[in-house]
Amino acid sequence: MEKREVIITREEIAKKVAELASRIRKDYKGKNPLVIGILKGSFVFMSDLVRAMNIPVEIDFVVLSSYGASRESSGKIKLVKDVQTPINGRHVLVVEDIIDRGLTVRFLLDYLKFRKPASLKLCAMFDKPARRKVEVPIDYLGFTVPDTFVVGYGLDYDEKFRYLPDLCVLEEQE
Ligand code: IMP
Ligand code: MG
Repeated sequence: MEKREVIITREEIAKKVAELASRIRKDYKGKNPLVIGILKGSFVFMSDLVRAMNIPVEIDFVVLSSYGASRESSGKIKLVKDVQTPINGRHVLVVEDIIDRGLTVRFLLDYLKFRKPASLKLCAMFDKPARRKVEVPIDYLGFTVPDTFVVGYGLDYDEKFRYLPDLCVLEEQE
């Protein structure tokens, strides 16, 4: 068993989700935004966020290949599952769990922009700016986290720990 240390509690997360949702609600009122989650990591955050936003939205998901069964990915991003909703003329809000090197989200934003949305913004729950490789503007950000591998609240290590309600750091095993 790997040991875990909680770095952001479920209560802190809930408070932050409420803050982000109220900002987003004001900005998107009457716009029927299309909220696009990046699977799998964003599923917990996105479900909390859209319910807290409490305005009519449509949702869709993409699957992008990034991290495999290790803590480092190849750096090559591939679109594994596209959105099913037409993007043209829509107010699109991309929801991501964590921005690390920025490659995953940069790839998706470029791809969506090409399809002419009315607007395109990014909401991320966690940000690890220390490791950024490409610039990405985060319009709505939850927490900045230290340069360490985190799990829980949808984030995994080798498909484990996504179900944990708090954000945790895995402590190295001896
Ligand atoms: P980027 O392309 O380097 O920004 O990678 C972002 C993706 O890598 C996220 O969607 C996560 O799936 C994954 N990732 C980055 N850092 C972590 C972490 O600390 N824990 C779990 N997954 C992470
Ligand atoms: Mg992810």
